[in-house]
Amino acid sequence: MFDLQKITRKNIINLKPYSSARDEYEGNQGIFLDANENSFGALIHNEYNLNRYPDPHQKKLKEKIAEIESINSENIFLGNGSDEAIDLLFRAFAEPSIDTVLYCPPTYGMYEVSANINAITPIEVPLTQDFELDIEKIRPHLNNPTLKLIFLCSPNNPTGNILNRENIMTILKNFQGIVVIDEAYQDFSKEVSWIKEIENYKNLVVLKTFSKSWGMANLRLGMAFASPEIIHIYNKIKPPYNINGETQRLVLEGLTDHKSRKYRAIDDIIEEREKLSIKLKNLSFVQKVYKSDTNFLLIKVNNANQLYNYLISKQIIIRNRHTTLLCENCVRITIGTNTENMMLMKHLLAFENSYS
Ligand SMILES: Cc1ncc(COP(=O)(O)O)c(C=O)c1O
Repeated sequence: MFDLQKITRKNIINLKPYSSARDEYEGNQGIFLDANENSFGALIHNEYNLNRYPDPHQKKLKEKIAEIESINSENIFLGNGSDEAIDLLFRAFAEPSIDTVLYCPPTYGMYEVSANINAITPIEVPLTQDFELDIEKIRPHLNNPTLKLIFLCSPNNPTGNILNRENIMTILKNFQGIVVIDEAYQDFSKEVSWIKEIENYKNLVVLKTFSKSWGMANLRLGMAFASPEIIHIYNKIKPPYNINGETQRLVLEGLTDHKSRKYRAIDDIIEEREKLSIKLKNLSFVQKVYKSDTNFLLIKVNNANQLYNYLISKQIIIRNRHTTLLCENCVRITIGTNTENMMLMKHLLAFENSYS
């Protein structure tokens, strides 16, 4: 049986959280002399109350997200990017220099970085050659008492594929720690979100972000969906004003009339992805274009370093994944606009003529 109390670090259970001025009085009306703000106003844009601390609980924004995801506000934590939501999980559940975390490379690099920052030993179980979870190699770790967190990224970065649902289910059912499913790219896939499963699995945390399909990477807003008990722990340890007021205001504005705007962008990106994928396959130096459920393509080429350097010289910046496990001579290309993709193709054809 999953026991949240048992896996939460003792210092976090005993923690008396910081109580901010805006925690103690939540009303909007009055003369606010409680938070040592500048009562005379901000340097610029006084109409946005930039001189005042933002809502530490992001109440309105969470209500809107709850409506969109058909979930309750108390199932939502908002972080300064999903990177903050990842880091706080380590701080809440993994004891430095004692506990361990499991993830499956090649995958999103912040799981490893966060583990190292928090002095948590990583257990790496590589994906199989076809980028699936190696469930038989993962299984023996599930009873390891030091293992507190498992990070699964689906669709996975940088491989682009959805992970097999049954394998994830096996992990969820057989592990008594926290299973994190990072769905940063889920909106670009046909797979249903795992958010619906947080009611059924008390050890599940689903991560999403406004940085990809919503097109708001600059605002730094990530979401974690989980049981109210896990969200309570998140709220206990987060910095009081972790989401700035402008982010809250602008994202809320963006979420009004959200469906048409969001889905138009997703459809356009998917259409460009499929067009670009076909064109890339026709290039002689491209060995493989991996199937993608994301807004990027992973491709295997004859010489990734040479291609990367050539494109950099043309001021086209892609991600060289040559040194990443299972990604020898691979590069990752974000899907650009139609014009950007045409420019990319022009230079790739020129590269083909000069080097192959
Ligand atoms: C799988 C995955 N998760 C999370 C993130 C980071 O998201 P955010 O911008 O919300 O911190 C990225 C960014 O590339 C990602 O690829």
